[in-house]
Amino acid sequence: MTGNTRNTTVVVTGATGRTGRRVAQAAQAAGLTVRPASRAQGFDWAERSTWAPVLRGADAAYLAYHSDIGTPDAARAIGLLAHEAVSLGVRRLVLLSSRGEERARPAEEALRESGAEWTVVRAAWFAQNFSEGPLVEGFRLSGELVFPGGEAREPFIDVRDIGDVVAGVLTAGDRYVGQAVAVSGPRLLTWAEAVAEIAKATGRELTYTAVPARAYGENLIGFGVPPEEVEFLVELFESLLDGRNAYLSDGVRQVLGREPRDFTEFAREAAAAGTWKV
Ligand SMILES: NC(=O)c1ccc[n+]([C@@H]2O[C@H](COP(=O)([O-])OP(=O)(O)OC[C@H]3O[C@@H](n4cnc5c(N)ncnc54)[C@H](OP(=O)(O)O)[C@@H]3O)[C@@H](O)[C@H]2O)c1
Repeated sequence: MTGNTRNTTVVVTGATGRTGRRVAQAAQAAGLTVRPASRAQGFDWAERSTWAPVLRGADAAYLAYHSDIGTPDAARAIGLLAHEAVSLGVRRLVLLSSRGEERARPAEEALRESGAEWTVVRAAWFAQNFSEGPLVEGFRLSGELVFPGGEAREPFIDVRDIGDVVAGVLTAGDRYVGQAVAVSGPRLLTWAEAVAEIAKATGRELTYTAVPARAYGENLIGFGVPPEEVEFLVELFESLLDGRNAYLSDGVRQVLGREPRDFTEFAREAAAAGTWKV
C-alpha cells in the first residue's frame, strides 16, 4: 500500500465491537473503503471457510480477535487467517494486541511468520471497558464496580484513539510495516480513580471494590462462565494487574502527532450520552 488510499479496501474484523467500529469510522473518514467482517456478514473466526469470501479482493485487514488475543485459539486463528490473506493478495495486516500480555506474543509471532506486511498495535486497557462490555450493566445498576484492579495504575486508552491510530498506520504507506506500536492514554489512573472520574461526570455516587482475581473468578463461575475461561481470566488479571503496565506509551503521538484523549473527556462524553444512568 502507498500513501495514496484511493481504491484501498480494508477488511475490518470485529466491526460491531469496541475497536472495530472506531477503526471502520476512522478508516472511512481517511478515504479507505471499509468492508466490515463479523458474524452478521458471515465471517466467523471459528469457520475457516468463511474467511476467503470477506478477504478476496481487499488490500488490507484489521484483525481484532473476538475473545482475548492471549488465548491459544487466537494464535492459531491469526496465523491461519494471515496466511490465507497473504495468499489472496491481502498483504497489509494490522493486528490489535495487548500491552504487557506475554500470552499475546504467540499471536503476534504467527502474524509475523505469515509473510504479511504487518503492524501490531499493542493497546493499554480500554477506557470503554467502563462503558461498553461485560462490566457495565452490573456497575450501572448497582453503582459498584467489583474488579481485581487492586491498586494498579493503568493509562486507559480511549478506543477512538485506537481507531485513529489504525487508520493512521494504514494510510502511512510502509512507515509502520514490521513494527509494534504501543498505545496508551495520557495519564495513569487506578481503578478507584477511574470510577471517581465517572462518579464526578455522572453526579452519581459510584464506588470501586477491589477483589482478588481468584475470588472474582469464583464469582464468574457462579454466573455460568466455563471454568477454563475463568482460569484464563484469573491468570490474565493476576499478571496484567500487577503494576507492570503502569507506564505511558507514545504510539498515539507517534502516529497521529497529537496527544491521546484523556479519561476525563471520555467519562464526560459517555455520561452525557446516558451510559451510566439508572
Ligand atoms: N479490553 C481491553 O482493555 C483490551 C486491551 C487490549 C487488547 N484487547 C483485545 O481486544 C480484542 C477484542 O476487541 P474489541 O474489544 O474491539 O472487540 P469486542 O468489543 O469484544 O467485540 C467483539 C467483536 O468480534 C465479533 N465476534 C464475536 N465472535 C466472533 C466470531 N466467532 N467470529 C467473528 N467475529 C466475532 C463481534 O461481532 P458479532 O458478535 O457481530 O460477530 C464483535 O464485533 C481482544 O483480542 C483483546 O485481547 C482488549
